[in-house]
Amino acid sequence: MVVNKQRALQPVEFAPAELVLPQVSLAANQENALLRPDAAAAVEEMFAAAAVDGIGLTLVSGYRSYAVQVGTYNHWVNQYGGDTAAADNVSARPGFSEHQTGLAFDVGQSDGACTLGSCFADTPAGSWTADNAHRFGFIVRYQQGAQGVTGFFAEPWHLRFVGTETAGDMRDQGIVTLEEYFGLPAAPGY
Ligand code: DAL
Ligand code: ZN
Repeated sequence: MVVNKQRALQPVEFAPAELVLPQVSLAANQENALLRPDAAAAVEEMFAAAAVDGIGLTLVSGYRSYAVQVGTYNHWVNQYGGDTAAADNVSARPGFSEHQTGLAFDVGQSDGACTLGSCFADTPAGSWTADNAHRFGFIVRYQQGAQGVTGFFAEPWHLRFVGTETAGDMRDQGIVTLEEYFGLPAAPGY
């Protein structure tokens, strides 16, 4: 499934049938670290491969239900003093977040440096992720320069599971958004 500002979850309170806890380092609580089984297995493989390369990764946020995303979005609206347009650059509205699919997660560096910050791209973990996530079926979903398509500022930490075939093909073709890869309209706004 492709989820963006023009493609809500169906139904809007959709929840995956099966969610599991990946057996990896967690930055926060287990409740927000669940993923669908195929994505969870890929996370385990990815974190193990990173460790072999001397890179410590941690799972910051995985599946978020519609109800949890209500809180996440409201947090960001409050951060921006009630400016929803500003919040919409950094957080999906409830029912429109990839986190609700159980196929997306936020990755961090195990020492906590630059967690959910743009400087994450410049950390060893961020650099390793950009170079290697595709080998495990993940894409960096919100990249620099793609906001006109995705509607979000760059998030070098937000990974979406698409499988190794699609992730590898996108990389080979130099396509960074699912919208362009699948020939879908750009979705910069709701
Ligand atoms: N931060 C991403 C866009 C989300 O809220 O799903
Ligand atoms: Zn995310």
